[in-house]
Amino acid sequence: MCGIVGFTGMQNAAPVLLEGLKKLEYRGYDSAGIAVMNNEAISVSKVTGRIANLCARTRDGADLPGTTGIGHTRWATHGAPTEENAHPHLSNDGRFAVVHNGIIENYLSLRDELRQDGYRFESETDTEVIVHLIELYYRGDMHEALVRTTNRLSGSYALGVICSDEPGKIYAAREASPLILGVGIRENFFASDVTALVSHTRNVIYLEDGEFAELTKDSVRIFDCLNQTVEKKISRIAWNVQAAEKGGFEHFMMKEIMEQPGAVKATIAPRIRDGRVVFDELTLTAEELREIRQIVITACGSAYYAGCAARYALERLTHIPVVLELASELRYSDPLIDEHTLLIVISQSGETADTIAALKECKARGARTLAVVNVVGSTVAKLADNTVYTWAGPEIAVATTKGYTTQVSVLYLLAVYIGDRLGLLENEYKTLVKDLQHLPRRIQQTIDLNASIPDLAKKYHSSKALFFIGRNTDYAVSLEGALKMKEISYLHSEAYAAGELKHGTIALIEEHTPVIALCCNPAIMGKTLSNIVEVKSRGAEVLALTFRSNQKIISVADDLLFIPDTDPLFSAVTEIVPLQLLAYYVAKENGCDIDKPKNLAKSVTVE
Ligand code: AGP
Repeated sequence: MCGIVGFTGMQNAAPVLLEGLKKLEYRGYDSAGIAVMNNEAISVSKVTGRIANLCARTRDGADLPGTTGIGHTRWATHGAPTEENAHPHLSNDGRFAVVHNGIIENYLSLRDELRQDGYRFESETDTEVIVHLIELYYRGDMHEALVRTTNRLSGSYALGVICSDEPGKIYAAREASPLILGVGIRENFFASDVTALVSHTRNVIYLEDGEFAELTKDSVRIFDCLNQTVEKKISRIAWNVQAAEKGGFEHFMMKEIMEQPGAVKATIAPRIRDGRVVFDELTLTAEELREIRQIVITACGSAYYAGCAARYALERLTHIPVVLELASELRYSDPLIDEHTLLIVISQSGETADTIAALKECKARGARTLAVVNVVGSTVAKLADNTVYTWAGPEIAVATTKGYTTQVSVLYLLAVYIGDRLGLLENEYKTLVKDLQHLPRRIQQTIDLNASIPDLAKKYHSSKALFFIGRNTDYAVSLEGALKMKEISYLHSEAYAAGELKHGTIALIEEHTPVIALCCNPAIMGKTLSNIVEVKSRGAEVLALTFRSNQKIISVADDLLFIPDTDPLFSAVTEIVPLQLLAYYVAKENGCDIDKPKNLAKSVTVE
């Protein structure tokens, strides 16, 4: 959940570290710090709150001269967000500084042991044991100290280390937490993700679990856990620096909402050739697909809701039952999964701890695994038998938007692709492929159709609680719509299957309670309309989201949101857009920090 960065080169490190930390701030933002080496001494500066505070404290890095350093932005797990608990952590002798993303599970026993050896602890963090272990094991050889230290650690870590006896060198080590090396000219870097590197270099090396790296300004050397040299290939990042900038928008979230037509096009267009859905990356044969008895979809948060939304298309087109399970539940549920299961894991970051654990669990039970992932080279992408990338580009806002719509788009493509292999009729297939090709345009039309949302936000922003209702896909989209609203505006928002209202929830409806009713499937619209009437007669204020030609709803709802007329099988990617915009403008009305909501972090790398 934290972000780490390291630099060694010709220029002063501190400004480079601060710039990198700003890019990583979405990973955690309750405290931050940097450590810079100068004349064989390490200076540290730490603050609570945002990177802006660290810039102010260090006069944009001018107070910490030196060309080698490490930095950290924190999402607190062990210990409150205080300066003492902020990273980097220093060894007692002041010769080593460490930054860490991950969790050291055996830190309590290590702390007891180190205390008995006379080490003094300054923080409540799990991380601090690492720096004391390094001091304990260092006998003039950092490789040996790192190997011996990491051998003692259980849990996950991406580590950055500097040692005042080794000027010009930064060390990085990885186990189950993301870490990437940036290869520049007379300068080298490490970072939790590429957004922190891309303004300096697009040449990167993906470190694997159990590996560590030694970087100087002129060299990048990588070693395994036995200290044997590992040869690695340099990869080129496909997107440029503008992709990770706000580009004139006030918030990343709005930029990313507006990018959706392009992102969905980038996801779909290359996979439709000569009217056929093509997945060059899939190794699953038609024969193997015929052996699949169930599709299990697992993920967390919005990625899970993407699975909920696409389930209807998958079941209808493949005739294979689809089971949805939250990754945090699946991993401990002793699931009925075997080689006749196709497990689909969905993750924007590819680093979500529960999703990784669920994937490992199901793999071990023999499932065939397919990952839908946005971040290239991420853990989930590497673990799955098949990986399909969403090509959404970097998503910086903590609340996902284009991540979700591209995930749903990939799942739609998969539904058509698998359905085709299992005997979908040619005529239906052709119509479905055309519908998929229209999705990017339909998202743009949806954005254009809903210019009234900023005004609606003025009406609804001060509500105590909002209810989202719908049936089938409408219900699945309600779940995501309610999550968007609560995570960025902090309004209490709940999604209910419309038919469930009478079974309890309707007791909460009173005069002026806002009910956002999704009504985008003509086949079952009448049923949701009845629910709208029921809540209206109890005083609710109804904001209905429906397809454009739906006249029936106009007389019933108080306010309206629209999607263009579209096949309801693929409507989730358009339906969610007005709800994203509504959440955005409500949060703006309420003065919330839209890109960095309180208590959250973009990538949930801890359980
Ligand atoms: C969505 O807005 C959230 N930030 C969150 O629910 C997210 O979708 C979830 O943590 C899963 O993340 P992943 O896609 O990176 O695995």
